[in-house]
Amino acid sequence: MMPATCLSVKGVSIPQIGLGTWQLDGDLLARAVHAAAEAGYRHFDTAPRYENEAVLGAALRDTGLDRGSYFVTTKVWYTELSASALLRSARASVERLGIGPVDLLLIHWPSADVCLEETIEALCEARRRGLARNIGVSNFPLPLLEKAIALSGRSLLANQCEYHPRLDQSALIQRCRREGMAFIAYAPIGSGRLLEDPMVNAIARSHGRSPAQIILRWHVQQGIVAIPRSSRPQRIAENIAVTDFALSDAEMARLHALASPDGRIFDPEWAPAWD
Ligand SMILES: NC(=O)c1ccc[n+]([C@@H]2O[C@H](COP(=O)([O-])OP(=O)(O)OC[C@H]3O[C@@H](n4cnc5c(N)ncnc54)[C@H](OP(=O)(O)O)[C@@H]3O)[C@@H](O)[C@H]2O)c1
Repeated sequence: MMPATCLSVKGVSIPQIGLGTWQLDGDLLARAVHAAAEAGYRHFDTAPRYENEAVLGAALRDTGLDRGSYFVTTKVWYTELSASALLRSARASVERLGIGPVDLLLIHWPSADVCLEETIEALCEARRRGLARNIGVSNFPLPLLEKAIALSGRSLLANQCEYHPRLDQSALIQRCRREGMAFIAYAPIGSGRLLEDPMVNAIARSHGRSPAQIILRWHVQQGIVAIPRSSRPQRIAENIAVTDFALSDAEMARLHALASPDGRIFDPEWAPAWD
């Protein structure tokens, strides 16, 4: 077992490698959660949109892990951002998970249809009502993040966004750092698409590591939190075993150089204008 290192932000400790659970459900998810707990994961990412909160919560309870020892994030879908809908969504998530308040509640995507003032106030209210210990946002580009930070009284813990070597997010990461917020990378290995890259493979061979481990180490070394998803116990264990080697500055730079203007994978019709 290889415990992940933690990032400390605003007095909260977040394990730097968490298990993504999008598209996992049923026995596959339950087995993944047990494999993850065994491998040392103490951070799990879900959302009502993934329709797997009940299974995730049951699997976590079944591991016997102490509730205080792991960190769970859920979200509120972008159609549920009015005050009443947001509070209803958060309450339903807590009920489905059945593990008490979530550690982090995020706005999954911003919406142009509901004013941000109302949404952020409701998010703060969800925290006051004890549904979430911490609050944050996801898929917020710089101008929206700036507004959300101010509206929340500077209390946002994290911005969860797509990030991997093909997508430059340096401005957003810098802004989170200056604010003392965590930047959480989703699709950290490019939904698997980066694993064939010849340069990533060359670095992997030189370290005797897998391509996924090289990319996840690149995240960890930047002080990023990453939430790779796998359904396979062996890969789940491999993805967290990234604390016992280091990439050189030159290797970090070669990975950064893979960024390209068309590197973004997630760009649905409801996405905001990106930076
Ligand atoms: N906030 C948002 O809007 C948002 C959007 C997207 C995702 N997310 C979150 O971020 C998580 C991660 O993103 P993601 O699931 O899109 O992509 P990802 O973690 O970058 O990649 C997952 C893919 O890589 C494969 N894989 C994982 N580890 C591997 C390894 N060691 N070797 C080879 N292949 C490996 C998996 O297949 P196998 O299962 O077959 O191993 C899967 O196909 C999601 O699950 C979700 O929790 C959030």
